[in-house]
Amino acid sequence: MDVISRYVTVRKTGKNYSGLCPFHNDTKPSFVINPEKQFYKCYGCGKGGDVISFVMEQEGVTFTEAVRELAQRYGINFRSEAQSNEVSELRRVLDWAKGFFVRQYKSKPTGTRAVEYVKKRGFEDRIVEEAEIGYAPDSWQSLYDAARRDGLTQQMLVTAGLVVVREDGRVYDRFRNRLMFPIFDLQGRVVGFGGRALGEEEPKYLNTQETPLFHKGRVLYGLNLARPSIYKEGRAVVVEGYTDVLMARQYGIENFCATLGTALTKDNAWQLRKLVESVTVLFDSDAAGEKASERGLEVLLEVDLDVKVATLEAGLDPCDYLLKHGAEAMNERLQKTEGLVAFLLHSAAGRGLLNDASSKARVLDKVLTLVSVMPNPIKRDLVLREIAATAQVAESSVRSRFSSLEAGKRRPVEPAPAPPAGLPTVEEDVLSIALRNSGLLPRCRELCREFGLEMLGPVLDAAERVVRADGTIDISDLLGQLTDPALQALAIKCHDRDVLQPEAALDVLRSRFEQSRARAELRKVKQEAPSAQSEAELREKLERIKQITPRANPRRIFLG
Ligand code: CTP
Ligand code: MN
Repeated sequence: MDVISRYVTVRKTGKNYSGLCPFHNDTKPSFVINPEKQFYKCYGCGKGGDVISFVMEQEGVTFTEAVRELAQRYGINFRSEAQSNEVSELRRVLDWAKGFFVRQYKSKPTGTRAVEYVKKRGFEDRIVEEAEIGYAPDSWQSLYDAARRDGLTQQMLVTAGLVVVREDGRVYDRFRNRLMFPIFDLQGRVVGFGGRALGEEEPKYLNTQETPLFHKGRVLYGLNLARPSIYKEGRAVVVEGYTDVLMARQYGIENFCATLGTALTKDNAWQLRKLVESVTVLFDSDAAGEKASERGLEVLLEVDLDVKVATLEAGLDPCDYLLKHGAEAMNERLQKTEGLVAFLLHSAAGRGLLNDASSKARVLDKVLTLVSVMPNPIKRDLVLREIAATAQVAESSVRSRFSSLEAGKRRPVEPAPAPPAGLPTVEEDVLSIALRNSGLLPRCRELCREFGLEMLGPVLDAAERVVRADGTIDISDLLGQLTDPALQALAIKCHDRDVLQPEAALDVLRSRFEQSRARAELRKVKQEAPSAQSEAELREKLERIKQITPRANPRRIFLG
């Protein structure tokens, strides 16, 4: 219970607890935990088991690693000779760095400038503590030297994005003279850092580059702290900056989270969708209207979230606004929201874009394109009516334009290229995941070995050789390593495609492989059963059929 509730927000339902399943993109709480019997079960995707299998699934680790992690979490001294993998090594380095930055912040006189900066910005100590804010000293090697003294390797520091190696081999700290915001994943583990300049230096923020653990598009800053409040209030607020999230907390508003200076991704959208049905976006006031139409908000609509927009007065971001007007005024703003579509239309009207026919048509087309991603036909219908009313256009025209845009969208631009012969798409899924997420290469390799996908071997080998320092795999580097034109074609195709939630997708693929393996066995046993030689043998076969059947049953599958 204690372990699982770190990953899943659950509600008590009778003797059990239930929540959204962490293993598939769940939309209603199909995940049930029975605390008495110490097991969990999802009625959506069929996953079930005990605490160890939960950690194995959720973290994608082996049995031993799961046991080790649990032991560590509960302070049980558990030793294993098994080598810890790169990821746990990386976590250790990041955790160490977080501690280093905090110590520097607190030490005098090193951290004095940072402490003063934070005070000037109006942050209280308790927020600094809670967010574990630190300071990277104004020096080229202080982190590097301290890390080496504590036994961390240069390679790990490089992989973690903390130090940079120059062409001439000299090593220096990536973050210098910056206020350091650790960025946490949903489980509260550090995955990277955002470093803010103390003055006007550029860039204002320097973030960790992509690493095996840090993918900008996958984290929402502050979501680990905000999650309980978001779940309780049934609403999440998405803002732009770290400081917005933290100042809101200082003012007792705890359901804020922020993208890391990028557009919202489908991953972000799903993370939110697992917690709530409704999201409010609160952007800096400058050009909020344009931002709302460009910032990729359609991903929120795509996962069937209700999207509201709140605005602030000109020139202020949420952090400034709170300092100037306080929590009550902010809460009022958050109450006074508009649906995304209404907001876009009103803001276009405000900019005079609905005055002439052709720009009005352009605005409407843009809005209708957004509507077309909404999966719920009833909500879509309501929005179409709203558009007609707000834009003062006949509803029938809105609907007819909507249909023709829809039709245009569905018409394939060119025929889909034929897949290379003999390759089922599950294998392509595995390869796409590997090529787009080098951190998952070992897991993909394991999957291939276990389920006999030998033809992927050479591509995975080549991929491993060309992973760049930032964790990406460049397609031209990769092609340079492959000679077989069929494999080259396969690599291009798979490299081009992003699989959503790659870790969860790997779990899904694994169950799909297990399922087809179970099906094959089931077919075989069913064929053999009638010709059993004795009652005992028949009984045994029937027992086996009973065992395999649930594993051979189809499960819900979501791949991007
Ligand atoms: N950002 C970034 N790199 C930059 C500028 C911004 O990654 N050079 C990202 C950061 O995640 C930042 C967010 O974009 O939090 C919003 O930027 P901005 O509003 O400029 O910063 P604030 O968070 O408001 O910071 P501050 O209050 O210190 O100005
Ligand atoms: Mn800002």
